[in-house]
Amino acid sequence: MISDSKERYGRISWLFHWVMTVLIGWQLMKIGDRIAEGEHWIGQTLVPWHVSIGTLLLVLIVLRIGWALKQRPQRPEHDPATALLVKGGHFLLYAAMLLMPLSGVMVMVGNGYGLTPFGIQLIAKGDEIAWASTLGSLHSPLAWLLLILVVGHTGIALLHHFVKRDGILKRML
Ligand code: HEM
Ligand code: HEM
Repeated sequence: MISDSKERYGRISWLFHWVMTVLIGWQLMKIGDRIAEGEHWIGQTLVPWHVSIGTLLLVLIVLRIGWALKQRPQRPEHDPATALLVKGGHFLLYAAMLLMPLSGVMVMVGNGYGLTPFGIQLIAKGDEIAWASTLGSLHSPLAWLLLILVVGHTGIALLHHFVKRDGILKRML
């Protein structure tokens, strides 16, 4: 099924979830620049795509938010005892997924580097812009927050599957 239902997430939500999981995992590899100044396989093959994949993720998250709002009335429901916590956790994941690329663009624009994803110039190089650079300084702390959220979210999903065995993971598979 293309759309979501009360029983499970549909094809489109599934595609957004797993394609973006892979791309965000790729983006988080940028932390690898802290090891040997990025002079390793990850730093030389995956990380050079950071700005391009990040810009693609900005487009994907906007589409995903639109899709999630449309699907809201028919999405799988949560156990009432923890529903607020689950919804709060998913909201934080959405907020971090949106703020990451936005703050990344601020790093580039704020430092006057311009924005050229996949070789297509969207913003030309220019002067430094102090306010954009200040917003861009949130990029790194937000990345660590997103990493913590993703580890927590994945851990809970695996706990449901292997310990509680309640089929929560299956509705996203
Ligand atoms: C979901 C999207 C993104 C994720 C998950 C992400 C993740 C990260 C991570 C983990 C770091 C390293 C932080 C550290 O070592 O403390 C980083 C740095 C960086 N990112 Fe991103 N990023 C994303 C999008 C973008 C975009 C769209 C741009 C540019 C248009 C960008 C530009 C940069 C730059 C220039 C740095 C190095 C400077 C800095 O740490 O402030 N990122 N990003
Ligand atoms: C970058 C990594 C990830 C992010 C940002 C993320 C984000 C989200 C978000 C926002 C939702 C709410 C539904 C939606 O709108 O799509 C969700 C649902 C879900 N995710 Fe993830 N996810 C990630 C990785 C994973 C991984 C690795 C697993 C499994 C091991 C997983 C398992 C699930 C499950 C089972 C649900 C459905 C939970 C429910 O509705 O009760 N996710 N995820």
